[in-house]
Amino acid sequence: MSFPSVNPTQTKAWAALTALFENTANTNLQDLFKEDANRAAAYSLQWQDFYVDFSKTHINAAIKEALLDLASEVKLKEAIAAQFTGEHINQTEDRAVLHTALRNFSAMKPEVSEVLAQIKSFTEQVISGAWKGYTGKSITDVVNIGIGGSDLGPDMVVEALRNQRNHLNVRFVSNVEGDHVIESLNGLDPETTLFIIVSKSFTTQETLMNAQTIRKWFLQYTSEENIAKHFIAVSTNIPAVKDFGIDPNNIFTMWDWVGGRFSLWSAVGLSIACAIGYEQYEDLLRGAHEMDQHFANTPFEQNIPVMLALISVWYNNFVGAESEAVIPYTQYLTKLVPYLQQAIMESNGKGVDRNGEVIDYQTGTIVWGSTGTNAQHAFFQLIHQGTKVIPADFIGFKKDQHNQKAHQDALMANFIAQTQALMTGTVGQQVDSPFKVFTGNRPTNTILIDQLSPNSLGKLIALYEHKLFTQGVIWNIFSYDQWGVQLGKVLAKNTLSDIESGHVSETHDGSTQALLQHLSN
Ligand code: F6P
Repeated sequence: MSFPSVNPTQTKAWAALTALFENTANTNLQDLFKEDANRAAAYSLQWQDFYVDFSKTHINAAIKEALLDLASEVKLKEAIAAQFTGEHINQTEDRAVLHTALRNFSAMKPEVSEVLAQIKSFTEQVISGAWKGYTGKSITDVVNIGIGGSDLGPDMVVEALRNQRNHLNVRFVSNVEGDHVIESLNGLDPETTLFIIVSKSFTTQETLMNAQTIRKWFLQYTSEENIAKHFIAVSTNIPAVKDFGIDPNNIFTMWDWVGGRFSLWSAVGLSIACAIGYEQYEDLLRGAHEMDQHFANTPFEQNIPVMLALISVWYNNFVGAESEAVIPYTQYLTKLVPYLQQAIMESNGKGVDRNGEVIDYQTGTIVWGSTGTNAQHAFFQLIHQGTKVIPADFIGFKKDQHNQKAHQDALMANFIAQTQALMTGTVGQQVDSPFKVFTGNRPTNTILIDQLSPNSLGKLIALYEHKLFTQGVIWNIFSYDQWGVQLGKVLAKNTLSDIESGHVSETHDGSTQALLQHLSN
């Protein structure tokens, strides 16, 4: 078996979808409900504790069928099998893509079990207080030093599961900006703080610089031999970690088949396991595994990640939507969107197909958003009355964490009313001013989950991972490399040497030379 490579625009389904868009361009969502009394049931999926309603989109029977044909013509089934069986589907880096293996409790790889056991025993020592700092005190604070996939996933999950957290304070430092590092150290006691340096490559400028600065800060208080009690590293680059001076017993390994933005399931999630305890961390992984099985084994028509991916392809490639919004109705998920931005946009922001040809159709969606109801008082104006089509995912939970019934009822009322307002607008109502008209007909998916927990969060994250992979397969791109981040890194090295030497090289373009000169003036 090999990873398929099909130009989607040359499939029969693509032509059918193009024609369907022309024929249905004026379809109004409300009419779809009038035509089909059963629409809410027909265009929704119930799976475990997830209810996913996509009836408030423009998908009808013919569009759905053509989208499913597209999935089969691009050989999605074969692509999923290729990923799950460890084929080197990340061809440009010649790597397998096996983040699903990190949470596959049905058939765990021995090396994964070993690291999970290491995470368990380490976090139990830290949480119980058995792990002592250099003056014999227990740990109170944990600082994760990392960026991109080595920061966004753990930070998002630790925030999302705040209500499950123990006594440890967990913070994250990522930006190369000195102010960020200094602010992050504010109030920390070196005697009771543990630093986890997370870098898959252990070559990332931001992380290494921040780790060095923090190491120096630490050594203002104590001596080298105490580094072992306070510095831990997670990486694939064991020699570089040792060179940094980390005790070999404090190294957690990961593998090249774990992509950075899919790595919270590996030892990169150590800060999560510190914050919520190993058992709950495992629940997160188990939830993701359940979604993996759903994705790998469910017919596409009932497959939540596949259906959401197909709907997104419809709006992105046929309707011409420029972006999509994600609106979680809980403050716990306040960091979900930045996390998804890396996962989705670093994966699918590609303009060359799997045959190396330049692409002439739209690929990666622009993802943005923030939590409701706050977002209602910020950018919802544009979603309701602006000129752009912005399909939006509304994510909500039936039960809150703190049993605040009145608040939860109000939150859910808004959650549901907004998708209703986006669909119905003021159509059919007397409105006394053109400025107060809502055209409606604006598409949304609703993802309603029983309650936010490690398990349901694991499922939700895995849902978006599989959705983005499905879209990458359809667009015939390599979702698992990220060459687009390299050029800036190289040029930053050149500009840094100019800034440090005070000599502006004439090889730069005029604007860059002028900026460098202004900087030194
Ligand atoms: O931004 C590019 C990137 O390579 C991401 O893919 C990755 O998550 C991040 O940098 C951090 O990389 P590392 O874990 O190797 O420090």
